[in-house]
Amino acid sequence: MFRARHLALTALALTLSLAHAQSPQARIKIDTDRKVGEVHPNMFGNFAEHLGRCIYGGIYEEGSPLSDASGFRKDVMEATKNLGVSLLRWPGGNFASGYNWKDGIGPKDQRPVRPDHAWGDLDSNRFGTDEFLQYCERLGVTPYICINAGYGTVNEAREWVEYVNEARSTYWADQRRKNGRDKPYGVKIWGLGNEIDGPWQLGHKNAEDYSKFALEAAKAMRRVDSSIQLIASGSSNFGPNADWIAWNREILQNLRSEIDYISLHTYIGNRENNFERFLATSQDLDERIEVVAGLIQAAQSGQRNPRPIYIAYDEWNVWYRARGNTEFATGSTRLEEIYNYEDALAMGMFFNSFIRRADVVKMANLAQLVNVIAPIFTNKQGLFLQPIYFPIAEYGKQRNNMSLNALVTSPTYTPAPGRKPLGYLDVSVTHNTKENALYVNVLNRSEKLDIATRLDNVEGAIQSAVGVWTMNYDDLKATHTFGADKKIVPANSTYTAKVEKNGFTYTFPKHSLTILKVKLQ
Ligand code: AHR
Repeated sequence: MFRARHLALTALALTLSLAHAQSPQARIKIDTDRKVGEVHPNMFGNFAEHLGRCIYGGIYEEGSPLSDASGFRKDVMEATKNLGVSLLRWPGGNFASGYNWKDGIGPKDQRPVRPDHAWGDLDSNRFGTDEFLQYCERLGVTPYICINAGYGTVNEAREWVEYVNEARSTYWADQRRKNGRDKPYGVKIWGLGNEIDGPWQLGHKNAEDYSKFALEAAKAMRRVDSSIQLIASGSSNFGPNADWIAWNREILQNLRSEIDYISLHTYIGNRENNFERFLATSQDLDERIEVVAGLIQAAQSGQRNPRPIYIAYDEWNVWYRARGNTEFATGSTRLEEIYNYEDALAMGMFFNSFIRRADVVKMANLAQLVNVIAPIFTNKQGLFLQPIYFPIAEYGKQRNNMSLNALVTSPTYTPAPGRKPLGYLDVSVTHNTKENALYVNVLNRSEKLDIATRLDNVEGAIQSAVGVWTMNYDDLKATHTFGADKKIVPANSTYTAKVEKNGFTYTFPKHSLTILKVKLQ
């Protein structure tokens, strides 16, 4: 019975896809004049938290034959470079809200071991501010430090900026010199705390109390270095009783003349084991971005010379398996998600949402870099790359491209009762003017249908040789492991398009992620 139904469905899908090869069912209409905004390099940021094996045993492992003299794992550095990471957020996350940066400087053997009350572990403090900033320099990535707006004080935040950025001879700048670093690090991006609206956060505050703290911290930190950029802790509490919009509205209103970004965090998961519903979570992402963009506009409205404010999506990923009641303060929290093929497709979905609003999403940080909900997974002998690694590395090549507002029509579905219908094709488009090429990013989130699609460039001829990067794997649940990470990988090819009137038809296979590189003439 099941087999007969399966065969019938397969036959139907085949017939549909063949039919569509002649008459496309979907359309992507591109106009290079319909510019959204530049894809900022910081959209390809990442995040390293003192949690589980992200820092210790991940990026830093003293005494390992795989590490260099500073204790940095060379294999992880290499994988990080190839991932195209532009920016690195540190030291948390929830960890930041209990962290005293002064514990992590000076001779390593004299640093105190402290309990971390965010995740229930002990921290040796052998990796601290200097190690983090040297790591960033070695990788050539921009550092982003998140201050402690939970248990910490305004003055500690001010002193941290002084330690890191002060050029003159002052107490904290001289401590830095004593610790071997003369030249200021010049850290430009600072977060004013992490997820302070969440009751789980150490030092959780209401919006009014947080605003007062953040305003004073901004003032104090900018007195040390007026050039720094600040990120307010936006709401990450989307629970049924939380009013995430009210939090964002209030802090934007209160902090609008001090901040450069407001943060957003989103983790998704295929808890119901429903592929198409899982990949419909772009509805939430798009809505959150839209709403916060509107709140920014509302806060700026009527202001003379309003300060530009952008969204820093500074934590995002799939995270649901390595999560549960033991998540906080158990001493064994590791968040070691093993990612599968469908999670790799979700990476495309996230980036498509960010790129579609590249005018306002000017930063995004995958959470996290290694071992902890991460694309890179280590043990003492080496590492493997998880399937999510590959789309992240590929989308990163679109930094500095111009995002375009493409018109997309495709067959629709309703992911869950009560939700709005949405297209099977999830699309974003960017334009690289130097290469004179369009990058067309297409997630086909139909589990069953290949979708023949007409692609039209409104003005200007296109070349017939189209570059195709694609990820497509039969088993949605397939994963990688040590010694076996070459299975769920992208394929590159060239498609010779039959170009007519500045357009052609391409069939996007079911459950696949494709990036077409279309050269303009
Ligand atoms: O990335 C894991 C955790 O998720 C972070 O520490 C916290 O900010 C978020 O809740």
